[in-house]
Amino acid sequence: MKLNIALLAGDGIGPEVIDQAVKVSNAIAKKYNHEINWKPALTGAAAIDAVGEPYPDETHAICEAADAVLFGAIGHPKYDNDPSAKVRPEQGLLKMRQKLGLFANVRPTFTFPSLIDKSPLKRERIEGTDLVILRELTGGIYFGKRGREDNGDTAYDTCTYTREEVKRLAKKGFELAMTRSKKLCCVDKANVLETSRLWRETVQAMEKDYPEVTVSYEFVDAVAMRLVQWPSSYDVMITENLFGDILTDEASVISGSMGLMPSASIGNKTKLYEPIHGSYPQAAGKDIANPLATVLSAAMMFEDFNLKEEAQAIRDAVNKSLAEGIVSEDLAEGGKAYKTSEIGDWLVKNI
Ligand code: IPM
Ligand code: MN
Repeated sequence: MKLNIALLAGDGIGPEVIDQAVKVSNAIAKKYNHEINWKPALTGAAAIDAVGEPYPDETHAICEAADAVLFGAIGHPKYDNDPSAKVRPEQGLLKMRQKLGLFANVRPTFTFPSLIDKSPLKRERIEGTDLVILRELTGGIYFGKRGREDNGDTAYDTCTYTREEVKRLAKKGFELAMTRSKKLCCVDKANVLETSRLWRETVQAMEKDYPEVTVSYEFVDAVAMRLVQWPSSYDVMITENLFGDILTDEASVISGSMGLMPSASIGNKTKLYEPIHGSYPQAAGKDIANPLATVLSAAMMFEDFNLKEEAQAIRDAVNKSLAEGIVSEDLAEGGKAYKTSEIGDWLVKNI
């Protein structure tokens, strides 16, 4: 297969973790006779520094023309401490999601047998966890009307959803549930929020089209609790943008490190693959970050191209590395910590 992949390394540890995913993908391409054409493009703070814009038109053109986008991380502390900044790196990511129409973010959470005791949660609570949070990605409070009034002393962000936006996300959720254990949980705050009531009503109306799927409806605050109490009781979960942002960070704790969890963002066309972690600026340039979330995001990409064996080969190599203690600092717990690049090299050798 011939693949054109847009490569957006972004900020902080982005370039380092992306390098490992590229190495691993190239090794897969070599082994299975594929050709990958990588098309690097600027985004985030790196793009602001270069051209004054976090998601330049040129980058969008490259992403649109590509078969998929592989993305590193975005964000730089110089903007976090400057609330008056006119352009922020994160705006690049939001613009990209919107312009590429990536309305669903697929964030799986699973455990690795060899890491089960690295999780701060007890083994018996997390064993067998294999869930997917489908987060709505181009609506809600992230994209609502916002502003200041009262000479800047009052600020507001508004949350809006249309029935269509809920429907298309829920449809992905039902379809995914059909390929798994046919359990779907709609996470909302329908006891308080009107947008949540629209979510619930829309999902309820769709139930008849998927008679095999058992749907539950739970409030987000209760889910935040149950997710760490009994994560293995969940399978596919659907939720709005902000709830999904928060719950997926929380869920990543189950696997043992945020540096392990991949994601895919999907819409109608080009899909995007990225680790769920941020740019981890404290580690930038030190070759210490965990590259596995990005490597596993590349595995999700192969899977979506229907290259299942290729995806599995990556996962097998990752599992083997973890079982053999080839881990980065976040998982080393005082033992030997391997460098980001060493882990990439080890994976390549084991593919
Ligand atoms: C994520 C990140 C982003 C988000 C930020 C960087 C804008 O936290 O992908 O989860 O909030 O969506
Ligand atoms: Mn987040």
